[in-house]
Amino acid sequence: MRLAGRRVVLGVSGGIASYKACVLARRLAEAGALVDVVLTQGGAQFIGPVTFEGLTGRPVLTSLWDRGPALAHIRLAQDAELIVIAPATANLIARAAQGMADDLLTAILLARTVPVLVAPAMNDRMYAHPATQQNLATLRERGWTMVGPAVGQLAEGPSDLPGRMSEPEEILVQVERLLRGPQSRLRGKRVVVTAGPTREALDPVRVITNRSSGRMGYALAEAAFARGAAVLLISGPTTLAPPPGIEVQRVESTEQLQQGVARAVKDADVLMMAAAPADFRPAAKGREKRDRAAGNTTLALEPTPDILETTKPFRRKGAVIVGFAFETGEKAARAKRKLTSKGLDLLVVNRADEPGAGAEVETNRVTLLSANGERELPLMSKRDVAEQVCEAVEALL
Ligand SMILES: Cc1cc2nc3c(=O)[nH]c(=O)nc-3n(C[C@H](O)[C@H](O)[C@H](O)COP(=O)(O)O)c2cc1C
Repeated sequence: MRLAGRRVVLGVSGGIASYKACVLARRLAEAGALVDVVLTQGGAQFIGPVTFEGLTGRPVLTSLWDRGPALAHIRLAQDAELIVIAPATANLIARAAQGMADDLLTAILLARTVPVLVAPAMNDRMYAHPATQQNLATLRERGWTMVGPAVGQLAEGPSDLPGRMSEPEEILVQVERLLRGPQSRLRGKRVVVTAGPTREALDPVRVITNRSSGRMGYALAEAAFARGAAVLLISGPTTLAPPPGIEVQRVESTEQLQQGVARAVKDADVLMMAAAPADFRPAAKGREKRDRAAGNTTLALEPTPDILETTKPFRRKGAVIVGFAFETGEKAARAKRKLTSKGLDLLVVNRADEPGAGAEVETNRVTLLSANGERELPLMSKRDVAEQVCEAVEALL
């Protein structure tokens, strides 16, 4: 569990978006965090403490004056590793910016020394108001981190201005980054990840492609981001949603992918090549859609550029280069040779022929090869594989 035993105070103030705080509390608890929910007076109007107690398995605090543990505000401020406020109302943001301590949450915020993550949620005009903007600027100056707000549906109707609270998944990613980043060698590093298949056009309609879903690359991008890296994801065509917080550059063909990597690799500290670019493309692209009536057709294919090879001269000195190889059966042994021939620091060998591994599935079974030796990993989720790869990269940095 990625946040096992980590102590988080989740402050919930009085907005409709507090229903999303329930999902956030659940996700944090599932990730292993010990979540102490603190409700403001407004927050308690929307969701009762019983719901949060059920979701976190821990008592919920709602007032400075409750008969509970002595000096709860000081104790929570000391024990927490991170304070998350989601949703943060205009009122809570104003009170925090003024340094007020008129309820339990604001008192904790004054007594704390740990980072604070704020997810503002309010009507778009409340958010745009100079008073709110000034208060947020004050909090940013104090080093508080903001997530959102997003643009989209508000309780009162659609809006094309910011105000809506960020989704729990996006907040969770930022929580992870703040908690895990300080312990990671990837923090502040520039990581470039390639993902997905490429498409090579036969004619204006048809393409040659492969079964890569992009999941492994997207999981790597998320894992590196959660460790505090600045991530650029260069993605071939996939149906996956862009991971929150991560810069995504879309490409279609192997040649476009190669150009993207050549540009990005110049200042990359780490390059993870998880894309499955087509090795061949039609030697000539037809202008017209081929007609079936033409009968049997022979396709002439030519090899595409070898991205690792052609971008070698642009690599930054000391950069960690991670390659991925799809291999089946006996050919898996061949992968070892790639480590040296392609100038890789780490090679992740996908066993494409085993159940639950390779393309189009959520799980993978890989072997990690580096100068330090060979490590075979059991079948696990692609996100867990990504964690293992990031750990191996940290050791090489
Ligand atoms: C139905 C309803 C929805 C509200 N939604 C929001 C909101 O999304 N954002 C906000 O800043 N205030 C919202 N408010 C106003 C706050 O609840 C109000 O400012 C309150 O004083 C905040 O209290 P707190 O700081 O104790 O949480 C809402 C009020 C009501 C009655």
